[in-house]
Amino acid sequence: MGKKLTISSIQKAKGQKPLVMITAYDALFAKLVQESADMILVGDSLNMSFAGKSDTLSATLEQMIYHTNAVCQGANESFVVCDMPFGTYTNKKDALKNALKVFQETSADCVKIEGGKEKSDVIKHLTCNGIAVCGHIGLLPQSVRGEGGYKVKGRTEEERKALIKDAKAVEKAGAFCMVIEGTKADVAKAVAESVAIPVIGIGAGKDVDGQVLVFSDMLGLFEAFTPKFVKKYLDGATLVKEAVAKYADEVETKAFPTEAYTY
Ligand code: KIV
Repeated sequence: MGKKLTISSIQKAKGQKPLVMITAYDALFAKLVQESADMILVGDSLNMSFAGKSDTLSATLEQMIYHTNAVCQGANESFVVCDMPFGTYTNKKDALKNALKVFQETSADCVKIEGGKEKSDVIKHLTCNGIAVCGHIGLLPQSVRGEGGYKVKGRTEEERKALIKDAKAVEKAGAFCMVIEGTKADVAKAVAESVAIPVIGIGAGKDVDGQVLVFSDMLGLFEAFTPKFVKKYLDGATLVKEAVAKYADEVETKAFPTEAYTY
C-alpha cells in the first residue's frame, strides 16, 4: 500500500483495480490490516463479533465513535469508513446531526448508510452538507428483525430490478461508493455495471469492484457461525486457544517465567 486513498482515487479504481476493504474495531487490528487494505470499515458488526450480541441493532453512535477513534489512531494512513448505527438516520435531520457528530469527533473519511432508494433523501442531505457517504444495498443487517432473518437478495426478477434502482438512486444521491451484501452474483454484477461508482461486495460474488470481509470472520476468530461467503484465511480461534492453553500450562507447571523473562 502507498499513501492513503481519497474519494477520487477510490472512484477511479472502478474498472482498474478491485478495492480491498476489511473491518477493524480497534487500533491494534487497524494497524495490522492497514498495510493491505484500501479502506477500513468500522462496521456495526462490532456489536456481534466484539460485543457478543446476536445482531447489529443495539450498537450506539457513541460506541461507533469510540471504535472509529481507535481505528483512526491505529491506522492514520488509511481511508476509514464509519457505519451509522441502526436508528441514527431515520430522517434527514437526525442523520445530519449524527453524521456531523461522527465527523466532528473522529477523523473518519465517510459514513456508511444501509438502504437503497428509500434512503436517497438522507444520503443527498448528508452529501450536500459535506459528509461523504458509502451506500449499502442488498441484504441489510440492520433490517434483520424487520425482515425476520438474513435473506439473500436478487433471487427474483423483481428483486433484480429493485436492486438496480437502489444502486442508481444511491449514486444519484451523491454516494461515492457502495457496499452490496448477500446478493446473487449475477445480480450484483448487473448492479456494478449499472453505476459509475465502485460497488464493493460481501457475499455478492466476484464480478463487483471490490470485496469487504469482517476481520474476525476472515481470521477465523468468530466461532458463533460462519456464513457461506466467509473464507477463513487463518484458523485464528484454534491458534489463540492453543497459545493460551500453552501459557496456562506453563504457569501451572511454573515453566514460565524462566530467567529470560525475569528482572
Ligand atoms: O458492519 C459491517 O461490518 C458491515 C459489513 C458486513 C459490510 O456493514
